[in-house]
Amino acid sequence: MTHTEPSAGVQAAIDGLAARFGSRLSRAEAVRAQHGAVESWLPQALPDAVLFLQSTEEVAEAVALCHRHGAPVIPFGAGSSIEGQVLAPRGGISFDLSGMDKVLAVNAEDMDCNVQCGVIHQNLNEHLRATGLFFPVDLGAHATLGGMASTRASGTTTVRYGSMRELVLGLTVVMPDGQVIRTGGRARKSAAGYDLTHLFVGAEGTLGIITEVTLRLFGRPEASRSILCAFEDLPSATTCVVAALQSGLGLNRIELADTLQMQAINAHGGVALPERPTLWVELTGSAPAVAHDAALFVELAQGSGALHVEAADNHEAANRLWRLRHNALYATRALRPGIKGISTDVCVPISRLPDCIAEIRAEIDKTDLIAPLIGHAGDGNFHLVLMFDPDDAQETAVARQINARLIAIALAMGGTATGEHGVGLGKMGYMQAEHGAALDVMRQIKRALDPSGIMNPGKIFTL
Ligand code: LAC
Ligand code: ZN
Repeated sequence: MTHTEPSAGVQAAIDGLAARFGSRLSRAEAVRAQHGAVESWLPQALPDAVLFLQSTEEVAEAVALCHRHGAPVIPFGAGSSIEGQVLAPRGGISFDLSGMDKVLAVNAEDMDCNVQCGVIHQNLNEHLRATGLFFPVDLGAHATLGGMASTRASGTTTVRYGSMRELVLGLTVVMPDGQVIRTGGRARKSAAGYDLTHLFVGAEGTLGIITEVTLRLFGRPEASRSILCAFEDLPSATTCVVAALQSGLGLNRIELADTLQMQAINAHGGVALPERPTLWVELTGSAPAVAHDAALFVELAQGSGALHVEAADNHEAANRLWRLRHNALYATRALRPGIKGISTDVCVPISRLPDCIAEIRAEIDKTDLIAPLIGHAGDGNFHLVLMFDPDDAQETAVARQINARLIAIALAMGGTATGEHGVGLGKMGYMQAEHGAALDVMRQIKRALDPSGIMNPGKIFTL
């Protein structure tokens, strides 16, 4: 995947873009490296140039120019995706959209907003503070809403509000020939034709570039209660998750961490939480409903054999708990600094979660692999970070085998290879097993919309 000199077409695109955009086109090695390397196990793959853009019109003009020369276009937001979505294995031009960071409209009465693709989700919530509304998808990383739509991202509150799949109402998209289209709209429902919005949500920039996103917003709940519960073992914790979901509590978040993950969180965060399989739970709603649901949850947890239950006393304590949770991946990386990790993210129907975790845990226990577990247990989605030294062939092979085995287990249970992080380059090898003939339909769509194959080529599947 190394790539040195631009092809003739890419060189022609670079010349044309430089003439039009001047110093906003960069060929500097450091800038290219910043856009062509990700914090994961995937090797870097640099674009030939990086173009910094400010508006849909500029993106359309630049795409049309790349289209004329057959130059690959790789959309780039914050660069926080995990599966290599922003890498440039075939060279080309990285379109840096982080400057497109304006909140264009907030319709408080309709509870929706329209943002440019480069708005960071945390910044949208800052912007919304005075309205009493918020946007719920809360991944730990600083990520752009355009990137989150493109990768169909989710987070800890997905159990309550859904993922980007449920929360995007409409899009502005620059098509592979530079045409600008608008999909969906602000109506809460529509039966008008093909659902193009959801074709682009999760397409990872392979069908066009999302430049604006219309999103649903929600009122901030009146009250919340955060509770931490430690269990003897993982099966007790996962049994409690299923029971809590089935009892219809106002669960806003229900996250699971294993003992090793809790050790990593304690070491990294300088705290002393119980080092046992733990559920992190947040209940939200009206004050009486939260009090009622919290008591019921504690009863359920105790019924599932919880050894230790503690509720955060106040907002500050609750925020501290959730910050520790959101930094879990960084805590894991600090377990073995400089070491690579494959961050798995299978998702299974919730009733299969205990078996899925137990089956892969039994396989990991036969190896020396260090693999802390954290996950969005309420969605049936969890991460194991499989840590390996890339210079150690044996460790690398074991990590890859466990990854493949986990995906096979999840697929056999009716699950998916990726509940959250997307396909990119990292999970391409598993798409045939997951989709079968449907993968060919995806290829047909790709060929129809992007016949010259310039949009984020080489991702999700090979043509
Ligand atoms: C998390 C990221 C890694 O859940 O998806 O922490
Ligand atoms: Zn996650």
